[in-house]
Amino acid sequence: MLTTQPGPDPYFAYKMHHVERARTAWILSDELGIYEALRHGPATVAQVSQSTGLQSRPVAALLAASACMGVVGLESERYFIYDMMRDFVLADGRAYNPPRRPDPANDWWYRVMRQAIVTGEPVEEALPPWMQPPEARARATAHVPARQGWRILWGEALAQAFDFSAFHVVADLGGATGGVLIGLTGKCPWLRGVVVDLPHSQTAAEAAIDRDGGTGRVSFHAADFFTEPLPEGTDAVFMSHVVHDWDDARCLLLLRRCYAALPVDCPVIVQEFLLDEDHSGSYLAVFQWFGLLFGTPGDQRTGRQVAALLEQAGFRDIGCRPLDHEQSIVVGWKRA
Ligand SMILES: C[S@@+](CC[C@H](N)C(=O)[O-])C[C@H]1O[C@@H](n2cnc3c(N)ncnc32)[C@H](O)[C@@H]1O
Repeated sequence: MLTTQPGPDPYFAYKMHHVERARTAWILSDELGIYEALRHGPATVAQVSQSTGLQSRPVAALLAASACMGVVGLESERYFIYDMMRDFVLADGRAYNPPRRPDPANDWWYRVMRQAIVTGEPVEEALPPWMQPPEARARATAHVPARQGWRILWGEALAQAFDFSAFHVVADLGGATGGVLIGLTGKCPWLRGVVVDLPHSQTAAEAAIDRDGGTGRVSFHAADFFTEPLPEGTDAVFMSHVVHDWDDARCLLLLRRCYAALPVDCPVIVQEFLLDEDHSGSYLAVFQWFGLLFGTPGDQRTGRQVAALLEQAGFRDIGCRPLDHEQSIVVGWKRA
C-alpha cells in the first residue's frame, strides 16, 4: 500500500533509475556554461538561455536539476549560485573539480540528453512509440509500462485520494495497459474503467487486463484522444503522466475535449510527479523532465501550472492533493 506519509520509500528503485540523468545534467550544466551564465549574478531562464545560446526549455530543466542538487536557488524567477557553491562549480573556484565528459559513442544518456539540450528537440532514437510518425506507430508495439504492478498500486491509492462514490465510468486517457483502473476498480467495485489508448496498444492491454484480474471491470477503447470521441457514459476522466508529454497547446486541446465530453458536476483528475514551485524538487519530477526533453514536446509542470491549464480549459473548483508521498492529483470540475 502507498501512503502520503514520508518514511519507508517504495520509490527508492524508481529514484535509482534517474541517477544517470542527474549525473548527466551536472556534466552538461558544466559543459554548456549554465554556471558561468550565473557568475555575475542572478538571471532568469530567458537570460541564461540568451547567454548560453540554448533554448529556454532545456535551460529550465538544467536549472531545475541544479536547484534539486543544491547548487543554485530560485528567487523572484531568477536563479543564483549559492555563495558556498561558487568555489565548487565556477571554473576558477578553489574546489572546482570538473566532471569527466563521457565519450558520446559509449554513453547513451550523455549522447541523447546532450543532443536534446543542444538542439531543443526530441531525439529520434529515443522517441516513445506514440511520438513516432503514424506509419512507424502503426508497426510499433504497445507502451507496456515496465512497472504495471506500480500502476495497480497507484489505482488503489487513487481510490483513497478521491471519492468516486458518485461516479460510474472512469476513462483513463493514455491508460496504456490498464494498471491504474485495475487497482481503482478493485477498491471501488461499482466503478467501470475504460482505458483509452492508441489501437496498437489494444492486444497488450487486453492481455494485461485479463492477467491482472480486471476482466469485467476494465475495458479497452482504441482511439486517438486528440481526434476521436471519448467512450459513451464517461462521468470522470483520469490521466496519469499524459499531460507532461505535451506542450500547452496540445494539453489545452485535450482538456477542452474532456470538458466538452463530461456531464456537469463531473471531474477531470490529472496525476503527475509535480515540480515544487521553486523547482528544487521533487527529485522524480525534475529528472523525469529530461526524459520528456529527449522523447516528447512536453514539460514537467508545477501544480499551479497544471491548474492554470485546467482553468483555461473551463474547469472550476480546482484543487491539488497528494496521491502518495511522491505523486499528486490535480482535480478540476465541470460546473454549470
Ligand atoms: C507516458 S505514457 C503514460 C501511460 C500511463 N498512463 C502511465 O501512467 O504509466 C502515455 C500514454 O499515452 C498514450 N497516448 C499517446 N498519445 C495518444 C493519443 N493521441 N491517443 C491515445 N493515447 C495516446 C500512449 O500510447 C501511452 O500509453
